[in-house]
Amino acid sequence: MNGHLSIAIDGPSGAGKSSLARRCAERFGFLYVDTGAIYRTVGLAAYRLGIDRRDTDAVSAMLPTLDIQMAYNAEGEQRMLLNGEDVSAAIRLPEISICASDVSALPAVRAYLMEMQRKMAREHNVIMDGRDIGTVVLPQAELKIFLTASAEARAERRMKELAAKGVPADFAEVLRDIQYRDEQDSHRAAAPLKAAEDAVPVDTTSLDFAGSEALLCKLIREKLGVEAVK
Ligand code: DC
Repeated sequence: MNGHLSIAIDGPSGAGKSSLARRCAERFGFLYVDTGAIYRTVGLAAYRLGIDRRDTDAVSAMLPTLDIQMAYNAEGEQRMLLNGEDVSAAIRLPEISICASDVSALPAVRAYLMEMQRKMAREHNVIMDGRDIGTVVLPQAELKIFLTASAEARAERRMKELAAKGVPADFAEVLRDIQYRDEQDSHRAAAPLKAAEDAVPVDTTSLDFAGSEALLCKLIREKLGVEAVK
């Protein structure tokens, strides 16, 4: 216990972790930490440098050459800086999702990014989302949530997000990307995606955003004994 409260939200890509975690953080006055963005920044760096993302030696040699910073702007949004450049938009490109998944399978990358994540939890009340927050990064978190939804429901939500941004997308391709990442994130040797034993499972397949938000807020109030500030 370090005087700060931690909430860990883990689950597969597209289950709604980041939008729900962001909303709950806002409502309870916690800091939202998106750990996937950190892996994406490493994935982007490897992509730009033309490094084979599955080659442990090459990626390990790259890590100390990178300056990766997490910053929050005036609106409280998390921004990722790679060697001083704001790469928050670039890391969201679909090809970078695959790069992030590839580099995140390497233990050297996971070890390198661990301290950055733990430091945030030591210094703030956090809602942190990722794949191994409840199991590895913050095993002492006061509340752990494992958020899931069927692959089809997640692909449908992703299609809507892309359509809202005016990005044309093919359902089969979006579903395939999700399944590729599920498979790789769940079966890798290093910190595979799995629920912590003491995590509360939440399946949002048949819940809309408001329903999911209400459920998470209820868990936070009950488990942490805190009240929403918004
Ligand atoms: O949540 P996301 O889709 O932005 O994450 C990008 C990739 O990073 C994802 O394929 C899995 C990986 N990741 C991880 O291994 N551990 C985390 N704590 C967060 C993300």
